[in-house]
Amino acid sequence: MSTLAALLKRTLAVGAVALAAVSLQPGAANASQAPVVGGTRAAQGEFPFMVRLSMGCGGALYTQQIVLTAAHCVNGSGNNTSITATAGVVDLNSASAIKVKSTKVLQAPGYNGKGKDWALIKLAKPINLPTLKIADTKAFDNGTFTVAGWGATREGGGQQRYLMKATVPFVSDAVCQSAYGSDLVPGEEICAGLPQGGVDTCQGDSGGPMFRRDDNNAWIQVGIVSWGEGCARPNFPGVYSEVSTFATDIKNAAATL
Ligand code: ARG
Repeated sequence: MSTLAALLKRTLAVGAVALAAVSLQPGAANASQAPVVGGTRAAQGEFPFMVRLSMGCGGALYTQQIVLTAAHCVNGSGNNTSITATAGVVDLNSASAIKVKSTKVLQAPGYNGKGKDWALIKLAKPINLPTLKIADTKAFDNGTFTVAGWGATREGGGQQRYLMKATVPFVSDAVCQSAYGSDLVPGEEICAGLPQGGVDTCQGDSGGPMFRRDDNNAWIQVGIVSWGEGCARPNFPGVYSEVSTFATDIKNAAATL
C-alpha cells in the first residue's frame, strides 16, 4: 500500500465511510453539483442492477444474491453481516427501497491495494431485480461507457440521495499511463474520461459498475469504479478495474459463495 494509487484509494474509501455516516442531502441536482461529477439524475428503474452499500460504496447485482464491488470497499474475506445493500430505488430514502444484509465477503485473492480491485458480497436473500452481466472478453473495452452512483458531486462533496449517471469515453492505457505512470496496472485497469475533464466518478462511487451496450443492446459491465487523481480533473481519467481480466476469477469465486 505504498503507491500513490493505493494512498488515493485508501483516502477516498475512508472519506466515503465518514461521509456515509452523515445524513444524505435531499434535493435537486444541478449541472454544477451533480453526483458522479458532470452527470444527471437516473430514472427510476433505468439501472435496476445498481446497489448502494452501507460502507459508502456502490455495487452491481452480479447474481440476485451476489453484489460485485471494489476490493478497497471491504476489509477482507469471510463471514460478514455488517453490510447493508440497498437496491430497487434511485432515491435512497424511498419507502420502497429493498434492504438486505450481507452474509459473506470475498475480497479478490492477492489484493494489496494495487490492481485486483474487485470483491463479492453475498446477500442474506436474493433480490428479485435484473442482474448486470460482466464482460468476459476485451471486445467491449472501448467506446462510450455509462457510470452511475450516489457518490460525491465534486471533490470533497457529500454523498447523494439520488442515483446519478454520466457517460465517459474509453481512454487507452498509453494515454492513461501518461497521467498515472507506474501507478496504473494496465493489464488490470481500464481508464475513462474526457481530456478536458468535467465528467467522472468520485468518492462514494467506488465499487459501482462502468457499463455499455453489447451487440444485443444489453448492458454489460466492463469496469468497477476504483480510483483517480481528484475527480473530473483535466488529463486525469477515472481508473476502473478491468472486468474482462477478472471475469473467470469472479465467476469461480461466486461459485464458492
Ligand atoms: N476511490 C473512490 C471511492 O472509494 C472512487 C474514486 C473514483 N475517482 C475518480 N476520479 N474516478 O469511492
